[in-house]
Amino acid sequence: MFDPKTFHVTETLHDGSVVELRAQKPEDRKAIIAEMEHASPDTLYHRFFAVKRHLSEKEQHYFFDVDFVNHVVLIAVTKANGAEKILGGARYVVTEPGKAEVAFTVVDAFQHHGLGAVLMHHIAAVARDAGITELVAEVLADNVSMIAVFEHSGMITTARRDGATVHVTMRYPAAAGLTSRI
Ligand SMILES: CC(C)(COP(=O)(O)OP(=O)(O)OC[C@H]1O[C@@H](n2cnc3c(N)ncnc32)[C@H](O)[C@@H]1OP(=O)(O)O)[C@@H](O)C(=O)NCCC(=O)NCCS
Repeated sequence: MFDPKTFHVTETLHDGSVVELRAQKPEDRKAIIAEMEHASPDTLYHRFFAVKRHLSEKEQHYFFDVDFVNHVVLIAVTKANGAEKILGGARYVVTEPGKAEVAFTVVDAFQHHGLGAVLMHHIAAVARDAGITELVAEVLADNVSMIAVFEHSGMITTARRDGATVHVTMRYPAAAGLTSRI
């Protein structure tokens, strides 16, 4: 069985940028925290439903000490002069057998380049390989980009609005077009 901890692919976005997607490692913690400190209020608000710039010890444990079984994180990086720069990431957390909640972040400068869609493709493929049949997400209702990424993902998507948030449910189509390129 495929081990998500070993996930690694290279992708070319629609603007020609080459990005690497790989499993998050413990040593990514510092760079991800630094990105969070510099993210726009809009990005933080849409990710955390609050302008959250710092993580407590407990939150850091949750976000970075992942087991790659019930909690899987893929990050996207670009390489310049041998050094990696974090561009974004996607995670799923198993909430009950066969079901997982997904969440995404793309750094401000890289939004609208197609990275969200690429992350969605791969996190969905990894989740399916791990036996997940349903993905869910809680999204602010004005988050047009995230909702569009879900709608274009090839999954059977339903959305239920509840005040300022939208609860999205995604199921894999019977003849799954989500071929993992792992
Ligand atoms: C939401 C978020 C992850 C989307 O990432 P992104 O890299 O900007 O998304 P993409 O560029 O892949 O997709 C969004 C765009 O592509 C379009 N799109 C996506 N997949 C597509 C497809 N297969 N075909 C056509 N259009 C597509 C969308 O309509 C949208 O258009 P836009 O360029 O005008 O925004 C990013 O904006 C972000 O990090 N936002 C802040 C945090 C957040 O909202 N997280 C979600 C909480 S779960």
